[in-house]
Amino acid sequence: MRTSSVPPATMASSAAVHRLHTRGRRNFFKCLQSVDAFLRRTVGTATAVTARNEEPEGGRPSFYAVQAQRQEQAERSVLIGCAPTIDEKQIVKFLSSHGNIKKYFTYENCGTYAVVEFESRESVASLLEVAGIPNNGHESMVPYKSRLMSLKRVGSAVASSQPSKQHNALQAAIPNNELMQRLCLEESMDQQIIRLTEAYQLTEENSHLRFLVCSLLKDIAAAYFPECSIQPFGSSVNGFGKLGCDLDMFLDLDNISGRNLKTPQSALSLEYQMKRANSERTVTQNILSVIGECVNQFGPGCVGVHKILNARCPLVRFSHQPSGFQCDLTANNRVAMKSSELLYLYGQLDPRVRHLVFSIRFWARAHCVTSNTPGSWITNFSLTVMVLFFLQRRSPSIIPTLNHLRELAGPADRSVIEGNDCTFVSDLEKIQLQNNTETLQQLLCEFFDFYATFAFSKKSINIRKGKEQNKPEAAALHIQNPFESALNISKNVNDSQVERFVALCQESSWLLQQRDILSPKRARDPALWGLATLFQPSRIATVNTRQKRKKEPASERIKSLLESLKVKTQSKN
Ligand code: GTP
Ligand code: MG
Repeated sequence: MRTSSVPPATMASSAAVHRLHTRGRRNFFKCLQSVDAFLRRTVGTATAVTARNEEPEGGRPSFYAVQAQRQEQAERSVLIGCAPTIDEKQIVKFLSSHGNIKKYFTYENCGTYAVVEFESRESVASLLEVAGIPNNGHESMVPYKSRLMSLKRVGSAVASSQPSKQHNALQAAIPNNELMQRLCLEESMDQQIIRLTEAYQLTEENSHLRFLVCSLLKDIAAAYFPECSIQPFGSSVNGFGKLGCDLDMFLDLDNISGRNLKTPQSALSLEYQMKRANSERTVTQNILSVIGECVNQFGPGCVGVHKILNARCPLVRFSHQPSGFQCDLTANNRVAMKSSELLYLYGQLDPRVRHLVFSIRFWARAHCVTSNTPGSWITNFSLTVMVLFFLQRRSPSIIPTLNHLRELAGPADRSVIEGNDCTFVSDLEKIQLQNNTETLQQLLCEFFDFYATFAFSKKSINIRKGKEQNKPEAAALHIQNPFESALNISKNVNDSQVERFVALCQESSWLLQQRDILSPKRARDPALWGLATLFQPSRIATVNTRQKRKKEPASERIKSLLESLKVKTQSKN
């Protein structure tokens, strides 16, 4: 917990950010990366039995390397609900009798849970062997055994006299008002932006649990498709996930062996007899329907299962109670997986990408530009692509275009999905960046300015080319799908949402031009300055923006905003 005194993490980040202004771009990245690494270390809440250095050797790992490592880790892990009278030491002692524990952590979610990673899968098998079937008197059990178990106290076993350790609230991001206070303790806007990412990004433990839930579900699907895998995609893995974000999963049946066998040379050829369906979509719907039913009927901890099979992308939605994750299971969704890889890659190229995306996503949520309920809102995915496009448009550009990433691709990177060329380089080390040293504060300000004046009515956002294009069709907001160029990822957005977005960008751009809100020293109210000011309720971008616009010119609205802010600050003083 941070207190009002300046904690070491703050000092480390402030020193790094100060250096950032005085040295070149390479050092700038190093600074931000050291801040990131430092923050990650301090945020981590794991109680590891054997501490291991998880940093990759030989540079930044590719998306697939990270995915593979986490999937393998999840297969060696179990999720255990623990009775409140059992303390951590006892849990570890009991479980260690089945093999070496590499790492474990506990968390609270309507009860205490432990995520335990063994060194080998044999330990998991050994644990499963000793687990019994619950006997709850009148209730009948579905005898499906999984790696989600309960640890209970039996008979005369001695209860621990030691007080139980503080467990992590794994999912909980800090409340907004507390975050605002924390932000205002920072020394610069750049530090505020970094602090925001630190407070909301997924922790190591949260990511581990996400992969474990996928692995538990894979065990269910494997009853029918033993060679399948279930992989997380979207914000759980693209580097932009916020604590509490949903868990998007993808049932991958493409790696089933024998699928892509070449025509045999011999005179005889053997193949499976398989049920036929009239389209790929029907196959997906049928598989999801059956797996969804299994999840509903047999999946321990899976509740509120809804099959949404007629959606553009058919899915099964449910809550996984022990983890608290809202889950969406899809199948045959390789393009979305590729989008996640692309976002991950952009986020890894330069630390400013993630920081800016976190701030903009937070800002958008604070002003109801994005929403948890489906509708005509801008989605987090669209918003992230808008930030990427903006960063491509900087001069010099901060991140390369998707076309450039395709040029750098090697033969192993080649990927064509349903006729769409999804090829781009996966090796981060092959990508050379340009020399741009803009600060996070400058970039945030420029982002708002860029979209406050963007010709949304005529132009389309295109990260493949890194240039705006003429809109190919009528749509309030047109953002070309990076891999399916004929599609618009923001087709759902209507005119009034775009108008609100533009009005909010104008307002925030203007606010960031007011020198007296940019630093705590200059601010009228040191408890409300910089980034925190941008998250305050807007005075101009209300639902009836259009009406207001007709009545008063923009300059008048901005003046009244300034006045209202002054009045607010004076009344606090
Ligand atoms: P959260 O709001 O934090 O869940 O962000 P998210 O990125 O996970 O978004 P969401 O859960 O809505 O979608 C999951 C993933 O599906 C995204 O990251 C994209 O990869 C993909 N996706 C979402 N919307 C679209 C879309 O309109 N078109 C395409 N092609 N892919 C999409
Ligand atoms: Mg999601």
